[in-house]
Parts: sequence; C-alpha cells; structure tokens
Amino acid sequence: MMDTLLINIGQLLTMDHEDGPLKGKKMSILPMIENGAVGIDNGKIVFVGTTAEAMQLQAKERIDCEGKLVSPGLIDPHTHLVFGGSREHEVPLKLQGVPYLEILKHGGGIHSTVRATKQATATELREKARFHLDRMLSFGVTTVEAKSGYGLDQETECKQMAVLKELEDHPVDLVSTFLGAHALPKEYEGRVDEFLQLILSMLPAIRSYAEFVDIFCETGVFTVEQSKRFLLKAKELGFGIKIHADEIDPLGGTEAAVEIGAVSADHLCGASNRGIEMLTNSDTIAVLLPGTTFYLNKEVYARARDMIDGGAAVALATDFNPGSSPTENLQFIMTIAMLKLKMKPEEIWNAVTVNAAYAIRRGEAAGKVKIGRQADLVLWDAYNYLYVPYHYGVNHVNTVWKKGKVVWRREQSCIHI
Ligand code: NIG
Ligand code: FE
Repeated sequence: MMDTLLINIGQLLTMDHEDGPLKGKKMSILPMIENGAVGIDNGKIVFVGTTAEAMQLQAKERIDCEGKLVSPGLIDPHTHLVFGGSREHEVPLKLQGVPYLEILKHGGGIHSTVRATKQATATELREKARFHLDRMLSFGVTTVEAKSGYGLDQETECKQMAVLKELEDHPVDLVSTFLGAHALPKEYEGRVDEFLQLILSMLPAIRSYAEFVDIFCETGVFTVEQSKRFLLKAKELGFGIKIHADEIDPLGGTEAAVEIGAVSADHLCGASNRGIEMLTNSDTIAVLLPGTTFYLNKEVYARARDMIDGGAAVALATDFNPGSSPTENLQFIMTIAMLKLKMKPEEIWNAVTVNAAYAIRRGEAAGKVKIGRQADLVLWDAYNYLYVPYHYGVNHVNTVWKKGKVVWRREQSCIHI
C-alpha cells in the first residue's frame, strides 16, 4: 500500500515533456491532467493519473485537494543565498540616482556585503542562510542554486561554500556555484589578471564544494575576454560554467557564454541581436532575472520574447541577494516575467520548473511530476495555473511536499474574535 494519495487535483501540472530543455514554441506547452491524482511511496512518485483512475488504489493517507492546483516543486536556478548583513542603508543613494556600479566602485554594494560576510562566523552565516532558505521553501521552491562570491579570498569563499554543504540537512536541495570572481578587491586594482589567477588557483580546493563556476562579466568588474579565459580554465577542470552576462551594460557576454559552452547565461538585459541569435542556436539556457531589473529600477528588461520566439530555452530565477534583488519570492518573479518580459503563463511555469532544472543540470531529477521521480510537490491555494502569476505579491502556497514529506503548510493564524 502506498504512503499518500493526492486526489481531486483540479489541474495537475505534470510538466511531463520529452527529455531536454524546452526551447522556443515548446515552452508554451503545459502538460497537465485535469481532475488529477498523484501517488507517493517512500519519497517517490508511484502514480500519476486521474482521480477516477486512482479510485481503486489503496493508500495509508488520502488527501482531498478540493479542486486546487498541484505542480512540481519550483526550482530557483540563480541565488546568492549565503551572505552577511544587508544593504537597506544603500537605498537612499539608489533613490538619489547613484547607479549600482557607481556604489560598487566606491567600495559599497558587493564590497559592503564582502566585509559583513568576512566578519560573520560560519554559524551565523549558516543560520541566516537557513532562514532565507526556509522562506524560499514557503514560496514553493524545493531546489535552489546558491553561489558564493562574498569572500573574494579563499578562506571566506570556502566558509560560504562549507555553509552550503552544512545546509544539506535542509529539505530544499542545493546546487552550489563558486563565484569567487564576483568583484575586484580594492588591493587588486590594476591587477585584474593577477586576481583572476588567484581565484583560479582556488579551484582544486573548491572541487569538493561546487559543481559550477560563475563570473560577473560587467563594466568595471571583469571584461568579456577575462571572463572567457577564466571560465574556459574552470571548464577544463571539469566545472559546469555559468556567467553573469550583459546585466547592466551590453558588453557581449551573451555571445561569450555561447562560444564557451556555458550551461547557462544569466541576466542578459543588454544582450545584442547577435547574442540572442547565437543563444537560439545553442544548448545554453538563458536564466532571466527580471526581479533584478525591477529592483535596480531599470526600464530595459531582457528580451525574453525575442529569445523564446527565436527558439531559445528560458528559465527564471530570483537572483536573491542583498543588493540587486532582496527577495526569496519566486512567485513575484513569475508576475514580473508576465508583465515585463511578456512571457505567457505556460512559458513561465515551464521556466520555473523544467528549464530551471536543466539550467542547473537537474533536468532528469527535478521539475516534473513523473513516476519514479522524487515527490517534490506543491499544492496551491489556486484553482488554475493562471491565477498564481495574476494575483501578485502574496504567497499562494498551501502545502509543500519534499521527497514525499510535508515540509511546509500554510498556517491559519488569523485570530478571529
Ligand atoms: O546578480 N551582479 C552581480 N551579482 C548580483 C548582485 C550582488 C550584490 O549586489 O550583492 C546580481 O545582480
Ligand atoms: Fe546574480
């Protein structure tokens, strides 16, 4: 007898596409079962079908979903989860119109978080990251990519990466990325290549911590040429590669990502026509982070429509970090993607499940409701998938299952007198 059977699911988003990331038009297909049911045993999915088909099945526990929506656990494929402090003190500067890269140049921004991260103990960093991770889970996210990058020296980078390892006891699955090349420390001014050499020398020690290597390719940080050379060395050592590309200035990072075979190219607000065309003919996944464009108060969003209409695979993420995107709420990102990236709701759901999984090489493990897979599921307080990005800024999650266990449930905490 199976452990749990969910029945009366109004719309069950199975996302059960053929294997591989969804490119172009395929992103608007949303495989679903109406009046669906899902069986769980021993942490795995053992049945996917209609409620009528599930009627003869025996289960220790039957859960009536009352016509609501069920989806795979969401995947956030780009976050900067582990850091010390916060940066609300920079908001007035931002509102006076001081640009993000200007704040960085004067020792604020990422540098300010580097100082706070160096000062924090590993335990403090871990408990703070756990708090943010709990909140991500509350928003229906069951797999998260997390980057280092607030150390810029071996000791602090390893401290961040070790925290991610310790968080393996958390219900959310973590995928780690080394972002030692996130900014240039003051003492390395004018010696960029020397700094990148130093970061490269850390890679053997990072091997046991991280699966991916990333770099911030941006004006005043690392050039396209430096980023390419750096990432190619990381690739030779066996790391998957990712790049913060064309986030603020259009430098040609999108083209570079495709040329060097990056698993994902992230941000892409300033991607050129050629960059977008190259992307559409490649296996590189575009990870778009519209929450960052929103929070940096910019007008120009990534050209998701051109990317998808051209045939690229697009994923969405929060970019959760203390500067350019302080939010754990992937549902809010879904809304921004609908309004500002003009993505269709079907494309959005695929972008936070199947394509997000492929962007972190978890496509064969997460992002679908499929027999044999881990039972990572979300029951939503919504009766259809359109409703979630539509009703914005709140949390629609009712229950989250991770590996078949309930790991989050909406509390009825209003006190009615
Ligand atoms: O993706 N741009 C580089 N990294 C982050 C921001 C980090 C920060 O401001 O602390 C980003 O936007
Ligand atoms: Fe980022």
